[in-house]
Amino acid sequence: MSSKSSTNDLIALCEPEISGQEWHYVKECLDTGWVSSVGSFVTRFEEEFARFVGADHAIATVNGTSSIHLALLAAGVEKDQEVITSDLTFIAPANAIRYIGAQPVFIDAEEAHWQMSVPHLQDFLENHCTFKNNILTNKTSGRQIAAILPVHILGHPTDILEICQLAEKYNLPVVEDSTESLGGYVGKRHCGTFGQSGCFSFNGNKLMTTGSGGMVVTNDPALAHRIRHLSTQAKSSSSEYIHDEVGYNYRLTNIQAAIGCAQLERCPHFLVRKKEIYDTYQQAFQNRSDILTLDTADHVTSAHWLYSIRVNDEANDINSRQLISALGERRILARPLWQPMHLSPAMTGAQFVGDGASQRIFQQGVSLPSSVNLDTQQQEKVISEIFKILGP
Ligand SMILES: Cc1ncc(COP(=O)(O)O)c(C=O)c1O
Repeated sequence: MSSKSSTNDLIALCEPEISGQEWHYVKECLDTGWVSSVGSFVTRFEEEFARFVGADHAIATVNGTSSIHLALLAAGVEKDQEVITSDLTFIAPANAIRYIGAQPVFIDAEEAHWQMSVPHLQDFLENHCTFKNNILTNKTSGRQIAAILPVHILGHPTDILEICQLAEKYNLPVVEDSTESLGGYVGKRHCGTFGQSGCFSFNGNKLMTTGSGGMVVTNDPALAHRIRHLSTQAKSSSSEYIHDEVGYNYRLTNIQAAIGCAQLERCPHFLVRKKEIYDTYQQAFQNRSDILTLDTADHVTSAHWLYSIRVNDEANDINSRQLISALGERRILARPLWQPMHLSPAMTGAQFVGDGASQRIFQQGVSLPSSVNLDTQQQEKVISEIFKILGP
């Protein structure tokens, strides 16, 4: 069964496909009464997910934001320290930094693939910080830099090898936000397995869903143990209610994990569909000067989670917001990209390093329908309506 909201001719942006063993596995939870945060599906989901991405350990959480929060805590990030992160991203990673009382430093995007700019990161580390006794300090704020949190946006990997090299040079842990890049690889390694930990989301709009859910992966057993501990109220005894620190109620439920197991089985198919959708859009837009595409970098595999373009308003009178609104009138859901974090009222006062690429991408960016169940006719309609709106 498919979860199409497109029944009344609305073409959705990115909706889930529930067409595998989901009902069957959830029924098992309901029939046995194992519905909460302990149960065989939680363990099975963690094991199968770890195998899928090629990590030694995986810890399931209630959502992607909580997985980043836990990964940052386990990386040792503390109040009044700073975490370097991407400027062009959904706000969740920046919020997770702030939950700890730490401050984000936002690094601009690069224009080629819209990910964290390595030259700007390098500039910040080399010219805006001091490195003494293995401790990196921000010259402007006087605060210690505690970690780097690069976000692989839209399914496309960041330059994670270069980021990890810089992190090593300055003795910084890397926590990867791979929530949008399940199925993305650099060489043969999956996004989220380069840093000390990697975080994933199973929100309804992601490659696979558990309704809401998240996962942290790591190859470090001590780190995995700590994250699991923090995710279960930091309970230190199996029989007594003794808690050795303030913990969190962040464990995924067995029902959600059951959905996760079924969705994970379908992931290889979802990835094939995402690539087909990407190829069809790319083919259609390749000769237009008023549409700038996000091409895939060499040596990486993109997950092609959400197909996005830039509307080149210098080559056309129509801008990105006008395109989104005109598509909406035709019952096609398109969306803008995220306001760059350094411009967000929620992040007022945070330091920004860059030259405004994230702002340019934000102004021109449009995400197009990319659901795995988008059919050929629907995609043809999206493309032909875009051509009608933009002109020949
Ligand atoms: C880049 C990024 N990080 C984190 C999250 C947070 O995930 P969740 O909604 O599961 O908390 C999302 C999406 O929702 C995201 O797009």
